[in-house]
Amino acid sequence: MIILSGQSNRPLAQEIAQSAGAEWGEVEIGKFKNGEKQLRILAEVTNQDVVIVQSLYQPVDEHIMEMLLLIDAADRAGAEEITLVIPWLGYSLQDKVFLPGQPLSARVVANLVSSQRVARVFLLDLHNPSIPGFFSVPTRILSSNKLFAAHVRQNFVDPIVVSPDFGGLKRARTFAEMLDAPLSYVDKTRDLITGEVTVNSIVGSNPEGRSCIVVDDIISTGSTVMEVAEQLHRLGAKEVVFYATHGLFVQDALDKLEDGPIDHIVVTNSVPLTRETSFVSQVSVADLISHELRHLHQSKK
Ligand code: R5P
Repeated sequence: MIILSGQSNRPLAQEIAQSAGAEWGEVEIGKFKNGEKQLRILAEVTNQDVVIVQSLYQPVDEHIMEMLLLIDAADRAGAEEITLVIPWLGYSLQDKVFLPGQPLSARVVANLVSSQRVARVFLLDLHNPSIPGFFSVPTRILSSNKLFAAHVRQNFVDPIVVSPDFGGLKRARTFAEMLDAPLSYVDKTRDLITGEVTVNSIVGSNPEGRSCIVVDDIISTGSTVMEVAEQLHRLGAKEVVFYATHGLFVQDALDKLEDGPIDHIVVTNSVPLTRETSFVSQVSVADLISHELRHLHQSKK
C-alpha cells in the first residue's frame, strides 16, 4: 500500500502513512504558466494499492482538481486499486436545494468522484448521513466520536452533551450515550441568505452549573459557536466546550472566537488549523483512518 497526497493536508497524509506502516509516495505539484494545475507522481505505483488523501477545504475547487488529477495519474501509472480518503468533503453543506435555482453541490462532487476509477471512498463525520447515497462507488463513513469521547472523559467530570441544532441531535445522542451523560439541544435557525444564526431556545437538561460539551460536525464562520456558547453561559453554564470534527475557521472566525464566550474548542486534523492558538486543541484522526486502511489491506490478502 502506498499513500499519495495532494497539497491540502500533507501532514495528516504523512501521519496516516506512518501509522499504517505504508509507503509514502512523493508527488510533485505545481502550476503551468496559464494557471492550470500540473502534477507528477514520482513514486512507483504500478500494481500497487494506492491510497489518495485529500481534504477538500480552501481553495476548494483547486483541491478538487488536484484530487481528480492525482486519481487519473495513479490510474494511468497502473495502480492496482485506488482508495480515496476525503477527511473533509467540500461542498457537503449544500446537501439540499435550499432555495429555488440552487444546485445540489454535494451530489455534483460525489458524481465527479464516482466517475473515476476509484474502488472506494473513506469519509469522516459527514454533515448529512444521506450524502453517501450520492456516490455510486462504495463509501465508508468514519466517526471521531470515540476519540472525542475519550478526550471528554479525560478532561471533564459529569458534563452534559449539547447538540447545537436539531440536525445534529442523532450524533449528540450517540455521543451522550457513550459518555452516559444527559442531553440537551439548541433550537436554532439560520437565515439562508445572510447565514445569520439565531438561537430560539435550549431544550432538555439544564446547563446551569454544568460543563457543557457541544458536539458538531463543523465550525465554519464560528457563528453557531458564538450564539450557542452565549446562550449556554446566559443560562448559567460553568463552561462551554465545543467539539467539532472539521475546524474550517473561515475568514476571521478564529479571531472572533478568541474574543467570544466559548471556553475551549476541540477539533480533529481533518483540515489543518489556519493558525496555532491555545484555545483550540487538535485530536488526530490518523490512527482511526490508518486502522481502517490496514484492515482493508489485510482482508485483501
Ligand atoms: C449546521 O448545520 C452545522 O452542523 C454547523 O453547525 C454549521 O455548519 C457551522 O457553521 P458556522 O460555524 O458558520 O456557524
